[in-house]
Amino acid sequence: MPLEITDILLEKLLTDILADGLTGTVKDYCAWISLEGILKYSEELIVDEAKVKLILDGFKEKGYAVEGKFDKAEYCIASNAIPRRTDFLSDSYSVYGEAKFSPIQYVRSRQEHFLEYNYVSEDDIMDISIATIEAIENAVKYGDGNVVHIDYLIDSSRTLKLNIINNIKEFDLTNEIERGKYSSNTTLMRGIMVMQKLFNHLELQIIDDKKQAHLYAEKKLT
Ligand SMILES: Nc1ncnc2c1ncn2[C@@H]1O[C@H](COP(=O)(O)OP(=O)(O)O)[C@@H](O)[C@H]1O
Ligand SMILES: [Mg+2]
Repeated sequence: MPLEITDILLEKLLTDILADGLTGTVKDYCAWISLEGILKYSEELIVDEAKVKLILDGFKEKGYAVEGKFDKAEYCIASNAIPRRTDFLSDSYSVYGEAKFSPIQYVRSRQEHFLEYNYVSEDDIMDISIATIEAIENAVKYGDGNVVHIDYLIDSSRTLKLNIINNIKEFDLTNEIERGKYSSNTTLMRGIMVMQKLFNHLELQIIDDKKQAHLYAEKKLT
């Protein structure tokens, strides 16, 4: 049964989501609130879009939030409100691999925030971001629509190390061949090729008995 949430809890959840470095529209924030509900309380939360907008606009007035760099309809944390953290060389979290929870925008914005915080160059951020989006798209497309685990860190040699783990959806291979995705048992592998170009190292392990896919990638930062 979906849960009702109080205004105070809603405001607290939105404060925390912004502090994690996410950027998105009112719709994205609504998606992430219901995601929080599933991850924290195993229940979808009922979210009132108008209320979310009111709180986000209030954050803007107070100087806690600003509009997005590229899209005025987006909200992100104001730079002087970003919490200073001494231990922000790694980040790990879960999203749900279903479009209604805006997982791609979630990972894209949270990862970009992490990289900017750690003074990663714009060129590296661009490469990492494009490659990570390909990986998350695969996790959503070929995953079972449940939890996708993401973690990354920057080590002492300034190498970014990324893990993405998802459960694999059961699918009908003959059906996929008919759709033209496979020629017998090979795919176009466009996404994998893009990732191989942008990362210095890439492994995609399909763990058969667990029906899981584990992507591991590294990039040496300039
Ligand atoms: N996260 C994943 N989970 C399960 N299978 C995956 C995952 N990522 C990639 N694959 C498999 O590897 C193939 C190649 O991926 P990719 O190069 O992105 O091509 P595409 O997504 O266009 O099929 C996919 O077709 C899929 O079978
Ligand atoms: Mg792909």
